[in-house]
Amino acid sequence: MASMSGLILAIDQGTTSTRAIAFEGAVEDAVRPVAVSQIELAQHFPQSGWVEHDAAEIWRATLQTCREVIRKAGGAARFSAIGITNQRETAVLWDRKTGEPLHRAVVWQDRRTADVAASLREAGHEAMVQAATGLVLDPYFSATKFAWLLDAVPGARDRAEAGELCLGTIDAWLIWNLTGGRSFVTDASNASRTLLMDLKTVQWRDDLCDLFRVPAAALPEIRGCAEVLGESEPSLFGQALPIAGCAGDQQAALVGHGALEAGEAKITYGTGAFLVVNTGDTPVASANRLLTTLGYRVGGRTAYALEGAIFSAGSTIQWLRDQMGLIGASRDSEGVAQSLSDNGGVYLVPGFTGLGAPWWNAEARGAITGLSRGTGPAHVVRAGLESLAYQTRDLLDALAADGSPRPAVLKVDGGVTANAFAMQFVADICEVTVERPAFQEMTALGAARLAALGCGLTADLPRASGEAPACWTPRMKPEDRDRLLTGWNKAVRAAIAAA
Ligand code: G3P
Repeated sequence: MASMSGLILAIDQGTTSTRAIAFEGAVEDAVRPVAVSQIELAQHFPQSGWVEHDAAEIWRATLQTCREVIRKAGGAARFSAIGITNQRETAVLWDRKTGEPLHRAVVWQDRRTADVAASLREAGHEAMVQAATGLVLDPYFSATKFAWLLDAVPGARDRAEAGELCLGTIDAWLIWNLTGGRSFVTDASNASRTLLMDLKTVQWRDDLCDLFRVPAAALPEIRGCAEVLGESEPSLFGQALPIAGCAGDQQAALVGHGALEAGEAKITYGTGAFLVVNTGDTPVASANRLLTTLGYRVGGRTAYALEGAIFSAGSTIQWLRDQMGLIGASRDSEGVAQSLSDNGGVYLVPGFTGLGAPWWNAEARGAITGLSRGTGPAHVVRAGLESLAYQTRDLLDALAADGSPRPAVLKVDGGVTANAFAMQFVADICEVTVERPAFQEMTALGAARLAALGCGLTADLPRASGEAPACWTPRMKPEDRDRLLTGWNKAVRAAIAAA
C-alpha cells in the first residue's frame, strides 16, 4: 500500500525528452521540486514529413528517470503517488500479451496520413467529426495514425479486432508498462485528441471508430484525470505506488498555471506552442478553426477548453541552431535578435511540418520572405523568434473572432520563455501582458497536482502557479505593429500559395 508521506513523482514524457520530477507535498503556492532527472529522446525522420519515436526507448527512459528521482529523493516510501503527463496524439501499437511495440510510434508532428484526412474532408465528414470531437480533420490527431499502423504491420488489423493488440497514446503506453500490463487505460484529456472520443459523453464512439477504421477492441478505457488509474508493479520501484493523475501535457500545463476559471489562458512554448483557454463546463464550438478540447475531468466533472496549436516554436530555434548553424546555442538567439533594430522586412514562416491553427494546411512548408542584399544571418534568426509572436497573434485573433474576449494576461511557460526578446515581442504583437511564473515546469506541476488530488493528498486543485511571475507589457507603437502584422500575413499567404 502507498504511504501518505507526501512526495509526488511527476513523469513528463515530452516530444524531445523524458523527465521525472519529485514534488514536495501538496504543491500549493510554494513550488518545490525535490529531484529531477531527464533523458533526451531520439527523433527518427524516415521520410519527408514523417516523425517517429521508439516506444520501447520511451518506456526505458521513463523507468530510468523515475528510479533516479526516487533514489535522489530518499526512496519510494517517501512518495504518495505518480502523476503522468505526455506528448499527445502520438500513436503506439503494442502486443497485449508480450508488451512489444509492433512499430515505431507515429509522432503527433507526422504528416504521413495527410491524404487520408484530406479524402475524409473531401467526402464531407468534417462537420460531423468536428461536432462530435471538437477537432478538425488533420493528420495531427491519433485516429489516422492508428489506422496507418494497423495497415502497415502485417496481420495487425485482424489481431487488433480479435483484442490481441493495444492502440494507445503515450499515457496509455506508460500506464500499461508501469502496471505490468494490468491497467489499459487513458485519461479523458488524451482521449479527446484521438478524433474517436465524443466530447460530451467522454466515451469512444462506434461511428467514429468505423469512419477511421480503428477497432474499439484495441482502445483503452477512458478515465478521469485525478483518480487511481492503477498501481505500479512493486518490483519497479521497490514498492507499489498509485498512478493517481494523468493529463496530456497542454492540459496539464493549464492545471499547473492554476488557470481553472473560464477565460483564463496559457500558452506553452515547447517544440510546438499550444494556447489553451479554459471555457468552463460547456464545450464551445469554434468557427475559426480552433480546437474544442477537454481541459481536465475531475470527480466526474469536465472542464473544456479552446486550443490553438502551433506546430513549430522551440523547434524553429533548434532548426536555426542545428540545421542552419546560425547560432551556437538556443540562448544566443536573444542577443543576435537584439543586435538588429528591426527585422529588415524578413519573415520566417515555420511550416516545417505543415501549418496548424488557424490555417490547418498539412502540405504547407517553411518559407523565408523579404530577402534583400542587406539580409544577413541575424535577420533570419530574428525572423525565427518573431514568428512565435505572429503565430500567437493569429491564435488570439481566431479566439476573438469566436467571441472570446482577448485574455487580459497570457500565462506562458516552456523553454523558449527564457528568451526575453521573444517574450517582449509576444507582448507587443499580441497586445497582452505576458506573465511567466518563477517556476517553469507547469506541465509536470499540473500532473503532480492532479495526482495529489487523485490520491487524496489535497482536496482541490490550487489556483496559483507559484512565486511572483516575470511580466512583459506591450510597448510597441500601433503603426509598427500594424506594419509587422501586414508583412507576416503576406508571408503566410505566400507559404500557403506555394504548397
Ligand atoms: O500536441 C502535441 C503536444 O502535446 C506536444 O507537446 O511539449 O512535447 O512539444 P511538447
